[in-house]
Amino acid sequence: MYSLIRPALFRLEPERAHALTLDWLSRMAPAANRLYGARIPSLPTTVMGLTLPNPVGLAAGLDKDAAHIDGLGALGFGFVEVGTVTPEPQPGNDRPRLFRLPEQRALLNRFGFNNAGAEALAANLARARFGGIVGVNIGKNKATPAERAVADYTSALAAVYDRAHYVTLNVSSPNTAGLRDWQGADALDGLLTAVVAERNRWADMRGRYVPLALKIAPDLDEAGVDAIVARLRHHRIDGVIATNTTTARDALPPAWREQAGGVSGRPVRAASNRVIAALKARLGDDIPIIGVGGIMSGADAAAKIAAGACAVQLYTGLIYRGPALVREAVSALRAQRDSALAASQNADR
Ligand code: FNR
Repeated sequence: MYSLIRPALFRLEPERAHALTLDWLSRMAPAANRLYGARIPSLPTTVMGLTLPNPVGLAAGLDKDAAHIDGLGALGFGFVEVGTVTPEPQPGNDRPRLFRLPEQRALLNRFGFNNAGAEALAANLARARFGGIVGVNIGKNKATPAERAVADYTSALAAVYDRAHYVTLNVSSPNTAGLRDWQGADALDGLLTAVVAERNRWADMRGRYVPLALKIAPDLDEAGVDAIVARLRHHRIDGVIATNTTTARDALPPAWREQAGGVSGRPVRAASNRVIAALKARLGDDIPIIGVGGIMSGADAAAKIAAGACAVQLYTGLIYRGPALVREAVSALRAQRDSALAASQNADR
């Protein structure tokens, strides 16, 4: 079905195709559920204390304002992450800011957190009918100077707390100047101290604990991963999402290498898997890893689990493969789980 409409969508300017598809999907949610969501195998998975119907989620950035969550939820994702949202609304960077690289099975984007603000996102979530697990990904406004950035995260957290099953701190988008600096040891310590304190205050006030996840970049070296792991442990962060888009350009044709932005899809896959494996080697089973970056097939999803993730997310694969990819990924993970179970039963005999 998607393979029939994709050529028409790919003839449109990417951001326009994106908006049209989301509007159409929102209107077609019941049909999408019959066609896709209702056909997803069950594969219950517990991550950060949350029980997901299956471990294949939608990655952040597709539904920045949670305006299309009912349509996207109807595709059968086990969880949906909305955002990145900032405390105040902002327009993002100038267009064009989204580009397709079909031969590389990639997208390059430099949206720069265009969004309607955290209050608007919370209002959209309050109106939504989607009954599944929703994560809200938060960031800082472009105009907020570094010395006030921590307050952006705490105020965005407060605005969405009542509507989120988990909240992701995005310190890894390449399209907001200085954002990735928050992955550094001292900056991260300050950020996590404040955000965890704010989360604990809300948890006490509401009697409901909302887990926190940190979303990191694929461009970290081993020392960078070491520093992050130490802070995740120290601050008892509930989960880590690896990874965001890459600033590496080696997989791109020369004409694209000077374009600013983050690259997603196949070119980020190996770097994402490398970071997941590096996290797993250090974290073991102590803090769950959600793997994201370059899942274009069921086998790619299984490779993320094999590298150490306990759930996955995808974005670019949905653009190239369409909603059938969700079922393909869940089926592959179910087969992987079945064969791991059979192997462990054999070993017990
Ligand atoms: C993203 N991504 C993203 N991530 C995030 O934390 N906040 C955001 O606002 C966005 N925005 C965004 C826009 C576009 C157009 C793309 C393609 C991606 C990153 C995304 O969630 C994911 O981490 C990466 O794209 C890698 O996964 P895929 O796309 O290779 O499956």
